Amino acid sequence: MVELTRDHGTAVLMISHDLPMVARYTDRMVVMHHGRIVESNRTAALVKAPREDYTRKLLAAMPHRGPVREIPRADPILEVDGLVLDFPASGGLLSRRAGKRALKGIDLRIAPGEVVALVGGSGSGKTTLGRAIAGLLQPTGGRILFEGKGIARRSEGWARYRAQCQMVFQDPASSLDPRMTVGASIAEALIGMPGLGAAERRRRILEVLEEVSLPAEVVLRYPHELSGGQRQRVAIARAVVRRPAFIIADEPVSALDVTVRAQILELFAQLQSRHGFSCLFISHDLGVVEQIADRVIVMHHGEIVEQGTRNDVFDRPLHDYTRELLAAAPRMANALALRAEADTRHTERTPEAMAL
Ligand SMILES: Nc1ncnc2c1ncn2[C@@H]1O[C@H](COP(=O)(O)OP(=O)(O)OP(=O)(O)O)[C@@H](O)[C@H]1O
Ligand SMILES: [Mg+2]
Repeated sequence: MVELTRDHGTAVLMISHDLPMVARYTDRMVVMHHGRIVESNRTAALVKAPREDYTRKLLAAMPHRGPVREIPRADPILEVDGLVLDFPASGGLLSRRAGKRALKGIDLRIAPGEVVALVGGSGSGKTTLGRAIAGLLQPTGGRILFEGKGIARRSEGWARYRAQCQMVFQDPASSLDPRMTVGASIAEALIGMPGLGAAERRRRILEVLEEVSLPAEVVLRYPHELSGGQRQRVAIARAVVRRPAFIIADEPVSALDVTVRAQILELFAQLQSRHGFSCLFISHDLGVVEQIADRVIVMHHGEIVEQGTRNDVFDRPLHDYTRELLAAAPRMANALALRAEADTRHTERTPEAMAL
């Protein structure tokens, strides 16, 4: 699109809630709120010095780098060694799907209380790894240890792992049962918890709803009666209600708009520091990762190409693929700099010249 505007003088109206992307690629920005234009200016000026409260709020909702946290040294809560996963060939004559090695020998460790982000391009194997670790996909080889014990089905470690490991998915509309009320959905997550009477169960449900900032009356509502952000709060409530030691979250905020995304990330960070669970946070949004991860693992074609602390990976990436990922994903911190670099290569146009 940049080339089109430059080489052919094509005008582009780009509609987006991705502010870093907009900051990097547009000349002028128009901010809308409740059907009105609240502010319009050259992009760099608007981003550096927003005049309206609403614009400031939008910019503040952009992910920003979180603090460096001390993770106490301890034995890993989760350990993955040489994990291999093959999807077998499938389908008939017309819908053949070739076999595929989706994970090619993955080694990783997660410490108690640590938030580890798993990043990588589409198809790199992030979801497959998350599902294999959750026990939802059977690996072809290698092993997964939770608190030092294997998690193979029906093994000694499996039952405990089932109770201690929870998953949150990208789309709560499909992960929540549409025929179940919010209360029933959360209650279901508590089934099999020893020594939990009806009164205690009810208390736990109301407590967790308060933790995720949902009013008590949502217990009687169905998922379709909630907004996307509220649904993701319910999915998070379901995941944390048993006080799990480990949560796998696969793109949990990718379907949400910027302000809701910021609220859910804030909620996640609060719950994580209150309860101290470990988390494997799968995301292709590097802005989000920069905000919440202690450590980052980069996947490419079924392999881990780089892993390190958040600051090391973002500030001193070692692998070419990591550099490519960082350059391709504008974050607020670097969007204007990348753009300034591009602008020196061709003269910027004035708003007057741009007005068609
Ligand atoms: N059920 C399946 N059968 C066969 N191949 C599969 C299956 N699920 C995933 N794959 C393949 O495995 C590879 C990894 O897919 P995966 O969904 O793990 O990627 P991802 O990193 O999560 O991508 P995205 O960012 O798009 O979510 C892809 O090549 C995909 O086509
Ligand atoms: Mg995925």
